[in-house]
Amino acid sequence: MGIFSTTEFNSMEDLLVNQLEDLYDAEKRLTDALPKMAEAASSGSLRNAFTTHLQQTRDHIGRLDVAFRRLGRTPGHETCQAMKGLISEGEQVIHAKGDPSVKDAALIAAAQRVEHYEISGYGSARTFSQRLGYSDIADLLQTTLQEESATDKLLTQIAEQQVNVKAMA
Ligand SMILES: [Fe+2]
Ligand SMILES: [Fe+2]
Repeated sequence: MGIFSTTEFNSMEDLLVNQLEDLYDAEKRLTDALPKMAEAASSGSLRNAFTTHLQQTRDHIGRLDVAFRRLGRTPGHETCQAMKGLISEGEQVIHAKGDPSVKDAALIAAAQRVEHYEISGYGSARTFSQRLGYSDIADLLQTTLQEESATDKLLTQIAEQQVNVKAMA
């Protein structure tokens, strides 16, 4: 959510649109960040996970476009300050020197912060959509939420089974 813009919440629909705009900006920022994360990864499976999630992230933007159309709105210029911050922390890791496996572990930690942020955002937006009677939008958001959760679990698996083990060796 933007910190300097004046936001007006007169209805739950205003709140839903605001949440969707925040997610829209977050996802757009991620489409720029994920290729850099993939390039910085030294583990092949981590690189694949980031590349696969880049494609999913494009789908997430597509679903948000559908939701905006359904609501008869065009996404405004909400800046997701939280994602901006998370990505700048990620960039610090991307440019870090040192042991490649420790760096991979750091990339995973940064990426999981991002996924958890998205999971909470989509959870709220899905619940608001459901409450407002937009069950079609709720279904779309739930599909995205499941992909975010699956990515989070995959990252845990890559960390526990490969990256952390190598980083400790
Ligand atoms: Fe996403
Ligand atoms: Fe994601």
